[in-house]
Amino acid sequence: MNSTIQTILNHRSIRKFTSQPIESEQLETILQAGLAASSSSMLQVVSIIRVTDKEKRTLLAQFAGNQGYVESAAEFLVFCIDYQRHASINPDVQADFTELTLIGAVDSGIMAQNCLLAAESMGLGGVYIGGLRNNVQKVDELLGLPKNTAILFGMCLGHPDQAPEVKPRLPAHVVVHENQYQDLNLDDIQAYDQTMQNYYANRSSNQKQSTWSQEVTSKLAGESRPHILPYLNSKGLTKR
Ligand SMILES: Cc1cc2nc3c(=O)[nH]c(=O)nc-3n(C[C@H](O)[C@H](O)[C@H](O)COP(=O)(O)O)c2cc1C
Repeated sequence: MNSTIQTILNHRSIRKFTSQPIESEQLETILQAGLAASSSSMLQVVSIIRVTDKEKRTLLAQFAGNQGYVESAAEFLVFCIDYQRHASINPDVQADFTELTLIGAVDSGIMAQNCLLAAESMGLGGVYIGGLRNNVQKVDELLGLPKNTAILFGMCLGHPDQAPEVKPRLPAHVVVHENQYQDLNLDDIQAYDQTMQNYYANRSSNQKQSTWSQEVTSKLAGESRPHILPYLNSKGLTKR
């Protein structure tokens, strides 16, 4: 197994960081890794906002649902869909198609994952922060986003001060289908639930009695940030 694959398979989110900063050369390399990612139609529709202002970090941690590591991480990056560049080049561009918002979300995820993997390959760690979308309008205003742009998620990066276990994933035969969609075999889920139950019960922090099925059904029982559609619409996105 090469070191790239080892880095990928060793991934775990890091939510506790030492106070050590990330060297500027390292940060530059992490960002260059992000910029090197594939880009749908070469639209280059992502903006990253690096938040260095302490007060803004404090507010963002609150807006994300009091996630303290947003404040304490050495670096905090916010990934945004950005069609404002294109609208600035030509005000007649039509950025309001849902397809274009999907492109922005997909490309941002790809760019962000390049950044995270680059960081992990250097012994750094990080975690995505979708919690920013809890108060997306406030985050948007705090970071001064113009029309045709939208907040997607944040990313904490820093030197790990914890070594959590790797979280088990669904097995490949459940996720990967050959030639056509295969119906789910609930026995596979039962086996995975057992694996996750053991993981939750025995991990080094935040132990709990639960299964994956219980976790996801509870997560999907309620509404999922219904303010997101009006937010995107208000930014001139996802109108048709
Ligand atoms: C887009 C995205 C948003 C996420 N948002 C948060 C978040 O707001 N807070 C958090 O603690 N973890 C967040 N996570 C991390 C997931 O909880 C984590 O990746 C998942 O539980 C799997 O654990 P692992 O990354 O350690 O393997 C997010 C992950 C993704 C991909």
